[in-house]
Amino acid sequence: MAANIESVSKDRWKEAQKWECSYWASVQTARARFGKNWMWRLLHLVGAVPKYRGEDWNQWWRQRFDNYSFVPERIHNAIEVGCGPYTNVRLMLDRTRFDHLVLSDPLIRTYAGFKLTFVSDMYRSMNCTIDDHPLEELPFASDYFELAVKINVLDHVRDARACMDTLARIVKPGGILIIGQDLTDDADLDYLKDDAGATGHPIKLRHEWFTEWLGPQRFDPIIFKVLPRAEGRAPDAHYATLIFAGRKRG
Ligand SMILES: C[S@@+](CC[C@H](N)C(=O)[O-])C[C@H]1O[C@@H](n2cnc3c(N)ncnc32)[C@H](O)[C@@H]1O
Repeated sequence: MAANIESVSKDRWKEAQKWECSYWASVQTARARFGKNWMWRLLHLVGAVPKYRGEDWNQWWRQRFDNYSFVPERIHNAIEVGCGPYTNVRLMLDRTRFDHLVLSDPLIRTYAGFKLTFVSDMYRSMNCTIDDHPLEELPFASDYFELAVKINVLDHVRDARACMDTLARIVKPGGILIIGQDLTDDADLDYLKDDAGATGHPIKLRHEWFTEWLGPQRFDPIIFKVLPRAEGRAPDAHYATLIFAGRKRG
């Protein structure tokens, strides 16, 4: 069994982030071409489309997390790390109200400039705190957040161990941690080395790697599933997908 790849050099991470940034910028440019921004606004006015445009598998994750039905109706402090251009917390708003929401991503300044997204709307209306620290260096106090969300992030980071330590630290005892993650085994490694997205995904982890943080001595599970390949998010490239929501023990 090959070792997990749990950290890479700073240069390798920067290369991955450059790939990520240009990928989302090109998606956004395509979405805006030929007056499509104005068209979207008009269609939204007549109720034909939602207010925000853009998805990165967020609806798929929401379904696997039982529509986030376990998230309380009101949360004082919440954070989504590696929130991306579209976010997952956006899909909790039909049932949950956040008093203070932090949207954190090293590329958040780029994403805040994208049109018709939840991130840009929240940024312009000053309804959230925007943070651009990498998760490894997040400056928030320990035991601070009642909800922390990290979905589809860990294979993009520089140091996955430091990221998990930080995340487990900032959640309040009794608070909820949500993690969704594609998992990688040896067979996937062969496939992934030729994949177009390989540059953007430097970290490779199997499900056993997470036990140190998500075990019963630290979190009481609410949902804990390792979906097999056929049920996973990307069966061609990942042998399984981790779906975890748990309450931090006091
Ligand atoms: C595939 S996107 C997923 C975005 C979002 N979580 C979603 O599900 O829509 C991965 C995100 O992880 C962010 N990321 C990369 N390295 C990171 C790090 N060290 N700390 C926090 N976020 C990071 C990237 O900037 C990118 O926006």
